[in-house]
Amino acid sequence: MITGQGIVKTFKQRGNILGSREVRALRGVDFAIPKGGAASFIGESGCGKTTLGRIIAGLESYDEGELVIGDTAMSELKHKQRQPHFRKIQLIHQDPYSALNPTRTIHQTLHAPLSLRAKQTGRSKKWIEERAAEVLSLVGLDAGTVLARYPHQLSGGMRQRVVIARALTVDPEMLVADEAVSMIDVSLRLGILALLKDLRERLGVSVLFITHDVATARYIGGDGELYVIYRGQVVERGPVDTVIADPVHPYTQSLLSAIPVLHGLEQPGEQPVVPLEPLDQLLDDTGCLFTGRCPFRGERCAGERPLLQVTEGVPQEHACFYPERRSVIARPLSEV
Ligand SMILES: Nc1ncnc2c1ncn2[C@@H]1O[C@H](COP(=O)(O)OP(=O)(O)OP(=O)(O)O)[C@@H](O)[C@H]1O
Ligand code: SF4
Ligand SMILES: [Mg+2]
Repeated sequence: MITGQGIVKTFKQRGNILGSREVRALRGVDFAIPKGGAASFIGESGCGKTTLGRIIAGLESYDEGELVIGDTAMSELKHKQRQPHFRKIQLIHQDPYSALNPTRTIHQTLHAPLSLRAKQTGRSKKWIEERAAEVLSLVGLDAGTVLARYPHQLSGGMRQRVVIARALTVDPEMLVADEAVSMIDVSLRLGILALLKDLRERLGVSVLFITHDVATARYIGGDGELYVIYRGQVVERGPVDTVIADPVHPYTQSLLSAIPVLHGLEQPGEQPVVPLEPLDQLLDDTGCLFTGRCPFRGERCAGERPLLQVTEGVPQEHACFYPERRSVIARPLSEV
């Protein structure tokens, strides 16, 4: 189990002549991803998904809160002591080309982490070669075909498979897939998604899926939880199908309505779709973060920040003062 409690992250960005500005990337995020389970983070560009994924993978620091991996709270450890814990969590980037060293063959790419493990555990050179072939086979690649090649000699889909194979060399407990198929040719995407799903089932590795696309979140992590993030705050959290079938937070409703494939499925008289313009993290920061865009805002919204909570009659957690004001977008899940 990997949990986060109240994770806060603020970036200082170099601004104009008036000085630097602060961007609140995460504002107290809680999450829990069970061993072998799945979770999906969804939200528009700039809402903080990658920052959260990088924090979970140990690649970014956080200002407040606690990250617990297994039974161990990371705040209790020194930097070096955290490394073995973070090694269990491997990040799959959206761009497999930049994730691989172009001057190294696939053999060299896999050899580096494997020889380190062999050294630590007293294993032989033969083990390294066998394990390299094994992780390639796990991702559907033939060692004889790819080991001698350089990244530019592979397709985007094959490169992403190599990135996943490299992640598997350390026997991870969790893969953080950050938009892992967005830069891959459309025709090859389903293969990578099917692979991630297959690895979950075969190896029991948990998957954190970071995406703009609710359909892929459902495909890979349909049995897990969906976290809807808005301006660094989780505004809705619950089982994927529950959130998709009956979104509570007006932002989630807008997000789902904005998916092109769903146009035409909405029922008359439902909540109007709020246009989602590019997000400005520096917008007014008091009250509910969605106030400026919300068709249902009431008297409490501008002055108070709603926190994630469970209310009567609503199965999922939500951060909205007036969940009853929504009009449900009921649509068959088979259409999503
Ligand atoms: N290293 C950094 N320095 C300064 N600001 C940053 C840094 N990384 C992220 N940010 C800011 O933090 C906010 C959240 O960024 P993040 O990359 O986590 O969003 P995201 O949800 O992954 O977006 P996208 O869907 O476009 O990938 C953005 O406003 C971004 O500009
Ligand atoms: S708290 Fe108010 S402004 Fe925020 S989403 Fe709910 S109704 Fe809209
Ligand atoms: Mg991102």
